[in-house]
Amino acid sequence: MTWRIFTGDGRSDPTGRAWEALPEPPPWRWREVAITRFVISDGLRDAVNAALHLRRPLLLTGAPGSGKSTLVSLVAAELGLGEPLNWHITSRTTLIDGLFQYDALGRLHASQSAAGADGDDAARVEDYVTLGPLGTALASRLKPRAVLIDEIDKSDFDLPGDLLNVLEEGEFDVPPLVRDARGARRRDGEAVVHEVRGSDRATYTVEGGVVRRTHWPVIVMTSNGARTFPPPFLRRCVRFEMPTPQQGFLTSVVDGYIDNVKGKDRKKIEEFAQRLLAGEQLAIDQLLNYLYLVSKENVTDATTRERLERTLLEELSGQ
Ligand SMILES: Nc1ncnc2c1ncn2[C@@H]1O[C@H](COP(=O)(O)OP(=O)(O)OP(=O)(O)O)[C@@H](O)[C@H]1O
Ligand SMILES: [Mg+2]
Repeated sequence: MTWRIFTGDGRSDPTGRAWEALPEPPPWRWREVAITRFVISDGLRDAVNAALHLRRPLLLTGAPGSGKSTLVSLVAAELGLGEPLNWHITSRTTLIDGLFQYDALGRLHASQSAAGADGDDAARVEDYVTLGPLGTALASRLKPRAVLIDEIDKSDFDLPGDLLNVLEEGEFDVPPLVRDARGARRRDGEAVVHEVRGSDRATYTVEGGVVRRTHWPVIVMTSNGARTFPPPFLRRCVRFEMPTPQQGFLTSVVDGYIDNVKGKDRKKIEEFAQRLLAGEQLAIDQLLNYLYLVSKENVTDATTRERLERTLLEELSGQ
């Protein structure tokens, strides 16, 4: 069978099921598999342990594809912290996004459309509050949760400082719940809120509208290093720069995922390591992509291999 599932002749298969010829995705595309084959350096292992002991966030910097975002899943799986909570940062992200969301409009709509005296009950404030990833971690009472604050270098200038504050305090207010708890209607002052996303959309009890930490969350922040952070922020993190992978490390990663890398393909690992040493920007998964395809039995001709090499092993130069 050819590996060219797509021929480019634009004619569709009459059965409409040509997609069934697609093989399984590469193993490293599955997070559950990726974490069992992750090759960890001694330096990174110790940095993780230091952050765990000190209850400080781990700030990982380093090249694209160096495994920064994957690490948190590894830590969470090993320590039994459940699915890591993922907070992806953009230039528009504010601290509140990580803590909670309040759907005030939705609530207004619900209270207006509910008939008469029941209007208030149909629109209980707590049903319109959802906890964000950091909020969920701080609200978790049963066990510590792991949080990935991904690409914090993309954030607005104020976010790192705001984040420090809430981590230091270990608590935050949810103003609509605070108001509600003060009101006559909820005398017990307890609200049950949901997390934004989670395997079971777990619920958390919030007393008096204030979320208070029971456990210190395990926090991993990632940055591509394109940005400097204020010293007070850095002081409160355990920092680790992902090292440039050497040939032995690359070989272990490749062998973890791909079975039959032989002869001239193995040589590519060495070439790749040399290119990295020379300062080229390349990610480990580019090497995996290339070797995965060429080690398939049906990709044997030299022209195809060269073409794939040009396509997949090109430097990440941003063009
Ligand atoms: N040490 C490693 N062992 C095994 N696989 C690795 C390792 N480092 C990276 N990979 C693989 O490379 C891919 C990219 O990793 P990941 O997305 O974690 O990188 P990243 O540093 O977050 O990149 P970016 O900065 O682009 O977000 C993943 O599929 C991961 O499994
Ligand atoms: Mg990443």
